Amino acid sequence: MIPIARPDVGAEEIAAVTEVLSSGMIAQGARVAELEGRWADYVGVPHAIAVGNGTLALMAIFGGLGLGPGDEVITVAHTFAATANAILSTGATPVFVDIEPDTYLIDAARIEAAITPRTRAICPVHLFGLVADMDMIQAIADRHGLAVVEDACQAHGATFRDRPAGSFGHGAFSLYATKNMTTAEGGLITTHDDRLADWLRLYRNQGMRSRYAFEILGYNYRLTDLAAAMGLAQLEKLERNTARRCRIAAVYDEEFRDLPVRPPVVPDGRTHVFHQYTLDVGPRRDAILADIRAAGVGAEVYYPLPVHRQPYILERGLHAELPITDEVAARTLSVPVYPGLTDDEQAIVVEAVRAAVLAHAGDEAPVGAERADSLPASAVDPGVPSNPGAGAIAR
Ligand SMILES: Cc1ncc(COP(=O)(O)O)c(C=O)c1O
Repeated sequence: MIPIARPDVGAEEIAAVTEVLSSGMIAQGARVAELEGRWADYVGVPHAIAVGNGTLALMAIFGGLGLGPGDEVITVAHTFAATANAILSTGATPVFVDIEPDTYLIDAARIEAAITPRTRAICPVHLFGLVADMDMIQAIADRHGLAVVEDACQAHGATFRDRPAGSFGHGAFSLYATKNMTTAEGGLITTHDDRLADWLRLYRNQGMRSRYAFEILGYNYRLTDLAAAMGLAQLEKLERNTARRCRIAAVYDEEFRDLPVRPPVVPDGRTHVFHQYTLDVGPRRDAILADIRAAGVGAEVYYPLPVHRQPYILERGLHAELPITDEVAARTLSVPVYPGLTDDEQAIVVEAVRAAVLAHAGDEAPVGAERADSLPASAVDPGVPSNPGAGAIAR
């Protein structure tokens, strides 16, 4: 099976980690500080703070913004659940708005309708390696005095008008094993805010500025020097690996051009880093996915049940009406795009996708035809109460 992801770990990472192991200084220390400095420079912000993973990065930012019960954060349901969970961890409420049908990113035109007196922040998710419309999001945030928290966990190095993900608001990056840059587990926060950065550094280290002087309520969110050494080696390769991901994506675009599928859309002024290469293959997605897998290709669905339909969200009364999110969840699949994918392996993926799509072509209206009619019944749970008006939460 050709896997959906494979970390690019080699001699550089082994040497870097071995050096730290031999030094005897393996927990947070000089390597973490070096990674923070290099990442801050890379993103173009004054501060980067390393933490144990991307979820903790988001939790720490929301905590540092002082969110609590009664506060609301506008975000999307077409994401990994950690985005919403980090908001919930503070006692605040995620308010879900729908996504754009082509980029799969937050539909900025829907944000203002979801703003209430309780809204404190907007949290766009730069899903699959593409930055959301930061012009509109920043303008709305400025107009309403809201913080912007970028979930950039999948968008290392992606840009919007030449500015990197994580440089607009406060950014959260994941360094999980499948990400474009990895330390197995790890996370990075980016911010321009000196006070928040200072608070985050205390918070991730039990609230201690100096040993056993606990200045604030803090926890252990630290990254290790072992992980940071690996991260530094990964950062060295990031540009090269992103270029390889883009080349693989360009080949897919070309090979799938004549198929009734929609390849990833990259709006003008943005660069995509192809954490995932995601195709809209239409309502016969599950049959196509099964065929691709049967051909030995590890295709995946990100994400089959959107966050607003997960049981623990429904239990909290946070259901939203998000027809485009539901439709995208039912029609899309992702295929391998990691830098170590060989040309021969890519040829196998191309053949598997072509055969599967063509085998089911004609079962349906073509991609881009009237979509509302093609939403599978399984994507909608009629038993769930909803708030059709706001496109946001119902209580
Ligand atoms: C969009 C998104 N947000 C948050 C996270 C959480 O990151 P981590 O797995 O490092 O905790 C991830 C990673 O899986 C993610 O893809």
